Amino acid sequence: MNQQELQQEVAKRRTFAIISHPDAGKTTITEQMLLFGGVIRSAGTVKGKKTGNYATSDWMEIEKKRGISVTSSVMEFDYQGKHVNILDTPGHEDFSEDTYRTLMAVDAAVMVIDSAKGIEAQTKKLFKVVKKRGIPIFTFMNKLDRDGREPLDLIGELEDLLKIEGCAMNWPMGSGKTLKGLYDIYHNRIELYRPQANESQFLPLDATGKLAATEELTQDSIYQQTLDEIELIKGAGNTFDPDKIARGEQTPIFFGSALTNFGVQTFLDEFLKLAPAPSTHEMQDGANLPASDPQFSGFVFKIQANMNPKHRDRIAFVRIGSGEFDKGMDVTLQRTAKTLRLNNATEFMSAQREQVKTAVAGDIVGLYDTGNFQIGDTLYSGKPERKYPALPQFTPEIFMEVTAKNVMKQKSFHKGMQQLVQEGAVQLYRNYQTGDYILGAVGQLQFEVFKFRMQNEYNTEVVMKPIGSRIARWIDPQQLDPTMSSARNLLVKDMSEQPLFLFENRFAENWFKDKYPQVKLTAKL
Ligand code: G4P
Repeated sequence: MNQQELQQEVAKRRTFAIISHPDAGKTTITEQMLLFGGVIRSAGTVKGKKTGNYATSDWMEIEKKRGISVTSSVMEFDYQGKHVNILDTPGHEDFSEDTYRTLMAVDAAVMVIDSAKGIEAQTKKLFKVVKKRGIPIFTFMNKLDRDGREPLDLIGELEDLLKIEGCAMNWPMGSGKTLKGLYDIYHNRIELYRPQANESQFLPLDATGKLAATEELTQDSIYQQTLDEIELIKGAGNTFDPDKIARGEQTPIFFGSALTNFGVQTFLDEFLKLAPAPSTHEMQDGANLPASDPQFSGFVFKIQANMNPKHRDRIAFVRIGSGEFDKGMDVTLQRTAKTLRLNNATEFMSAQREQVKTAVAGDIVGLYDTGNFQIGDTLYSGKPERKYPALPQFTPEIFMEVTAKNVMKQKSFHKGMQQLVQEGAVQLYRNYQTGDYILGAVGQLQFEVFKFRMQNEYNTEVVMKPIGSRIARWIDPQQLDPTMSSARNLLVKDMSEQPLFLFENRFAENWFKDKYPQVKLTAKL
């Protein structure tokens, strides 16, 4: 591909993740998007995952044979001249640090909110990570076909809890049984929920934002009420500001119903226009590397271990930051300066089912890994050397004490632990007084993967004793006095020997703060 072609290809990329609380409708909206993109042929294909009704298309067969769930981690399709990459951020029991790290590999995020519930815990957690990155965030208020909360109330809550400006792009006309449609502020039209057979789905509005008097809908009290609400938000709401959106300071809000496929296409079309293509990446040395630089480079943001004992392979997920990836190309692994030939890239779920041949900045490639890669590794072709900044560490929330079941296995226990920790599978701490090992994670699955891999890859059975959920707060070593520690605030040190307290709960943390007001406590991301 020449430079001009590369630039054109990169400009088409839209790489994003969908964040939400479980059950808000992430799977349903993803599935609608895949339908628009021609990846799946009927709704229910992806949802079938839950019911076990799974092997409905070829890519799923491939996945089943391999016994590793990678294809749905990245979903890609072409739509209206754009090449879309959706990165999955697992919820429920699959939630892990990988979920957070995936947010380091996207250029935008979509936040799906259940309009009956508003902002929920997991959305808030994921949002925090996205906000820190300063990337654009788009909001879809879902389940409009059900009675939900007042839109103004929802936007108010979003602004208060997430500290971001909301800008309504459209506005619901009723909800649940009374849902008539969406008043589309951005396009100055009304999108009807259930148009009559002879009616178009979109009704134009005049320059003052009103329907022609002949339209039947003008007689409906919901129409009048909507006009009043629109007047209110046009007067008191935030003005649409693309610069603020680009910086992640304002979120465009779209309403709709994923299940009934209402408002999803409007959302997708606008989102793909407003969301950025890959542009530049800040490197470790502070320089900005343009995505269209011809030299291939990228970083590993996730390593997925195979939970199937018959397959011991792992997949390293690489976000391409610049240039073009070619199957079989030679690259340098920056950390070891070793040259590797990338013969084995895996396909993700897409309309084109052949093996990945070329991919460009913005795309994700999955590389079979026999133990070469670590989380955060940089890969690059040719010269000069490239290095992406380290991925941030996240504050773990659940903890386990861990020991080797068989004392004779200490050596492999330490080796396995060291490698898995380096890889970013779990975080390791040591009790400040006793030196006992404590593992920290953001999701339960991380412990299960750890246990499984210690057994399978390092032949070591581990015993884990839960300490439960804790609030981890780092403390300046200068201010540390070991007598500050108690059963309710366990003192430990991290891998870089930095001391931190694991508080039993918020109460214990506040008690500590009251007792030692001069001591500064800090969280990671
Ligand atoms: P998640 O991936 O965020 O966890 O959510 P998912 O899409 O699985 O949706 C959770 C539940 O909410 C599903 O119902 C789904 O059908 C429903 N849902 C999603 N979008 C809408 C919507 O716009 N309106 C309504 N009314 N419901 C919606 P379920 O009963 O858990 O599953 P299913 O048996 O119906 O598939």
